[in-house]
Amino acid sequence: MPSYNLAIVGFGNVGRAFLRLLIAKETELRRKYDIRWRLTGVATRRVGWFADPDGFNPIALLNGHWPARAANSTQPKDVREWLERAKADVFFEASSLEAQTGQPALDHLKAALQGGAHAISANKGPVVHGYRELSALAKEKNRKFLFESTVMDGVPVFSLFPLGLPATELRGFHGVLNSTTNVVLTEIEKGRTFADAVQRAQALGIAETDPAADLDGWDAAVKLTALAIVLMGADVKLEQVKRTGIRELSEEKIRAVRAAGMRYKLVCRAERKGDSVQCCVQPELLLASDALAGLEGTSSAIRFDLDMFGLSIVEHNPGIEATAYGLLADLVRVAVG
Ligand code: HSE
Repeated sequence: MPSYNLAIVGFGNVGRAFLRLLIAKETELRRKYDIRWRLTGVATRRVGWFADPDGFNPIALLNGHWPARAANSTQPKDVREWLERAKADVFFEASSLEAQTGQPALDHLKAALQGGAHAISANKGPVVHGYRELSALAKEKNRKFLFESTVMDGVPVFSLFPLGLPATELRGFHGVLNSTTNVVLTEIEKGRTFADAVQRAQALGIAETDPAADLDGWDAAVKLTALAIVLMGADVKLEQVKRTGIRELSEEKIRAVRAAGMRYKLVCRAERKGDSVQCCVQPELLLASDALAGLEGTSSAIRFDLDMFGLSIVEHNPGIEATAYGLLADLVRVAVG
């Protein structure tokens, strides 16, 4: 029975939810997929880099008990050395998004693949800034580079293509891909202030470390760009996305349009135009009859425009465990090959 040594960078909301889910699904993973796992590497900016090839006690970590360091132990000099000490088979990148460069997450994933581990990312930056390089490296090393949880959590949007929809042409897509702004808009409609609504999203554990990344449309733009690059083969850069966040909308305006039967949503759009793919993120005023207008709270949705048909997917009220599920599903994909 295969046993996987797992190493994770980032032990915030996502990393911790992932570990809880691994524990909750331990029996199912073993029985259905012959997967056993040990957590042999954990790293966070705050507490440093820990590695133990015999595995950590996951419950102790979840309770905030970090292993004691031996007096003569040194910090690994880089990620590669940390992964070697952890004897990691699968590396998970769950640190905070740095939208402009995707770093240092991009270098972490590169180091993992170069060292012979599979690389799974919940961090979307590296997909936008290094998808082609990381995919090529994974192929060269006969390892997998997977990132399903980066857009719509555990919904298999990347995995749908190409095998689920062979011989189709994706001409464009649009959707609501950022949960935080959807929560904020929903809460303001209910009468909360902007600041309270942001706090509500933070309490749900879904806002970025700096919620400005959500409110100003960066998170949505990064997801849009990742989808355009991976699913449409687009040569699009983040800075080419036309991006407007939700701060320009006043609380009064948001409530007034709601009272009139309409809603604002932060909508992402990608459309193939000749040789290029045009991408934009902006608040759109939607009629109640629009499929996207019904999205409440953390829900998100996407509509793919294929040459064969249109296909819509709605994710209803995901919590942080939905992102954790995306990571777990990628681990199963690694194991089943
Ligand atoms: N901050 C992101 C959101 C988290 O609100 O959608 C999930 O990617």
